[in-house]
Amino acid sequence: MPPDPEAPKSQPLRALKARSLKGTAWVPGDKSISHRSLMLSGIAEGRSEVRGFLASEDCLASLAAMRALGVRIERIGATHVVVHGVGLRGLKAAAQALDMGNAGTAMRLFTGLLAAQGFDSTLIGDASLMKRPMERVAKPLREMGADVRTQQGTPPVDIRGGRPLRGIDYRQPVASAQVKSAVLLAGLYADGPTTVISPARSRDHSERMLAGCGVRVEVEELSVRLHPPQRLASLQLTVPGDFSSAAFFIVAGLLGGAGEGLLIRNVGLNPTRTGLLDILRGMGATIEIRDERESGAEPVADLWVRASALRGIEVPAALVPLAIDEFPVLFIAAACASGETVITGAEELRVKESDRIAAMSAGFLSLGVAHSVLPDGMRIQGRGEGPAFSGGDVDSLGDHRVAMSFSIAGLRAAHPIVIRDVANVATSFPGFAESARSIGLDVVASDG
Ligand code: S3P
Repeated sequence: MPPDPEAPKSQPLRALKARSLKGTAWVPGDKSISHRSLMLSGIAEGRSEVRGFLASEDCLASLAAMRALGVRIERIGATHVVVHGVGLRGLKAAAQALDMGNAGTAMRLFTGLLAAQGFDSTLIGDASLMKRPMERVAKPLREMGADVRTQQGTPPVDIRGGRPLRGIDYRQPVASAQVKSAVLLAGLYADGPTTVISPARSRDHSERMLAGCGVRVEVEELSVRLHPPQRLASLQLTVPGDFSSAAFFIVAGLLGGAGEGLLIRNVGLNPTRTGLLDILRGMGATIEIRDERESGAEPVADLWVRASALRGIEVPAALVPLAIDEFPVLFIAAACASGETVITGAEELRVKESDRIAAMSAGFLSLGVAHSVLPDGMRIQGRGEGPAFSGGDVDSLGDHRVAMSFSIAGLRAAHPIVIRDVANVATSFPGFAESARSIGLDVVASDG
């Protein structure tokens, strides 16, 4: 998808109350699956084809990194890529440090993949990524025998290659799909099986895709065991729409939908991603799943969303890892619900692209939303019917999901909301403002 011409990088977004939303929305391809599709097809045998690829800044950082490691990748169309895999042992040293931009997924998964190679690598990123914790991946990789160094826990990540890796049983302290995936990628090269045991379920795209490449992956409850393969088979994949991008329009439909509702087409509904649906339904949302199907080993469906009066709830802890990227927009829904919503057990929000608890709290303060910050979440006093936000200025702190969430808040704002530092919307949802306008949201580039 081309970048939104009306939202140049330096310009804030302005979100206003809109007439009721309706029509059909499409969201771009899944970010997690797009990253993984490049990494796995790059080390597979021969020609892989990926359709519905998310051509966002984050995934293009993965694409550039795979190219720098010697993989030929053709971009046939905006969302169609052909990857000429070099085989498990065919990657070559990059000429310089690999720049992962804003993409935590790219940095953590590449750390796993590159820890197992016969050459050295250095991984860097933008100002936000350079502050994010990397020891969580470095530690288990060191247990496997890899030489991975961080700077007091953060990037640059320096990897010395040529270390033989051992298969390990790793019990991870937090349910992180990125850490699990990094260990599994390194496990492809280990001398025996590698097992990752998690405290709760987290997204399982790596497991599904590895199995699709012919790798023996045994999943049992909260443990995943990978047997190192001789080779990976190539992939033919159509990436589903990203549930995390659809989340903005789901909440928009609930807050501002018309009688006939809003249809969001072709959304990936992997059960490790859809905790938000359960939470919103617990708050009284009407969301219907239509035309369920499969695409690239992933469940996909259309979502039909109707304007709904939401009630505050205590968010069940078990749903937190299954909705981890959707909390910023859930906070917006909670501010519009009647009564209090309590979110706990979500301390991981503190180490995402921004400290999302702090970023949302700062926005709430300037928009007059009563709330209290908890170390691992927030208590939000919802307003119920009518405007829930006063209008005013909000800083996204460079976090794409915070920026898009406050754009949705515009639907229930008494006055315009101006959202600053929004360039990173392009890391996950290029064309967001344009798509939002196509269903009736009033989100435009602002002069300041
Ligand atoms: C991701 C896993 C999640 C998520 C991130 C993408 C992935 O992070 O927040 O946006 O693609 O594996 P954690 O695994 O650190 O929770």
